[in-house]
Amino acid sequence: MPNKKDFAFRIERWFEENRRPLPWRETADPYRIWVSEIILQQTRVAQGLEYYYRFIDRFPTVRSLAEADEDEVLKYWEGLGYYSRARNLHAAARQVMGQFGGEIPDSYEGIRSLKGVGDYTAAAIASFAYGLPCAVVDGNVYRVLSRFFAVDTPIDTTEGHKLFAALADEMLDRQAPALYNQAIMELGALQCLPRSPQCVACPLFLLCEAAAAGKAESFPVKAGKTVVRPRYFNYLVLHCGEDVFLSRRSEKDIWRNLYEFVLIESNRALTFEALQQTEAYRSLLGEAGRVQVVRPPFSHRHLLSHRVIHATFHTLEIEKVPESLSPYIRLKQGELGRYAFARLTGLYFDWLASSASSFPRLFE
Ligand code: ADE
Ligand code: SF4
Repeated sequence: MPNKKDFAFRIERWFEENRRPLPWRETADPYRIWVSEIILQQTRVAQGLEYYYRFIDRFPTVRSLAEADEDEVLKYWEGLGYYSRARNLHAAARQVMGQFGGEIPDSYEGIRSLKGVGDYTAAAIASFAYGLPCAVVDGNVYRVLSRFFAVDTPIDTTEGHKLFAALADEMLDRQAPALYNQAIMELGALQCLPRSPQCVACPLFLLCEAAAAGKAESFPVKAGKTVVRPRYFNYLVLHCGEDVFLSRRSEKDIWRNLYEFVLIESNRALTFEALQQTEAYRSLLGEAGRVQVVRPPFSHRHLLSHRVIHATFHTLEIEKVPESLSPYIRLKQGELGRYAFARLTGLYFDWLASSASSFPRLFE
């Protein structure tokens, strides 16, 4: 990590010049810091300030909060939303009175054990109030670190959580955890913005990999956001007399090891005419003699858990079996029942059965 010292030095100097004067930054009282962090979890600083002042005015200590009615606590939260934050905070204040003798615990694990306190909040309280070397990882930190190192591991995966927790811990200035944590969060909040980050004015500009590549806005990467492209399956159900043709799906894709008819996958929807023009179709059936369409096409939009497949089955009679079909399994129609097919192909069989009387020639 060659830039580690430089990284901390730069953001800390920048922070000293640019920090917003916020009330919870002017105190080392773990209770006040805790209240502010809970308020700020789902609330912007500008709105949170007003609530913070009113809340601390009415409940200045953990004891006063623990002794209050939940109804009154909720009244002070009214309008902020996410009321479980207030309920948990209240319950945790009682937990502090009952379990910790009225003192907010001064270890990361102790703090983390309080109701409603997650990894981020525990690290914030531990570092801001007690100077413990715990790195915070919030949305700001994901953004700054993913850009600074151009990390494209999605942040919304288990792997991403682990990687960024380790990276944040690695970068932490252990001499000044509170200053460092505030600085990286403030940089994310004021400079390294989700959209239009102010790279040229950023203290990290000359060291930042995403800025160097002109790709700041490409980070952080989110797995949930990648749009899964639909897939287009063009099945050729080829008959040559009594014979039909199958292949076995590979290990590496959906429906692994199941059987299916001859498949041409395309990157968009194709009519049969357009399909006939493709290289794949020509190389498969160019030598098959006369090709007759013996059923109307059967189309189905198939939904998998995170994929849409647009499938069309073309039922064709070919005059002769070309060499290009030798990689396929050739079997008698009556043997189809021995093979396992995915549900999609099952729907084709169902459709055939229901339309058999109007097309009596095949699959009787
Ligand atoms: N957002 C969450 N915690 C914060 C803090 N301590 N200061 C400013 N913004 C924050
Ligand atoms: Fe963020 Fe740009 Fe600064 Fe890099 S240079 S940390 S992308 S604001």
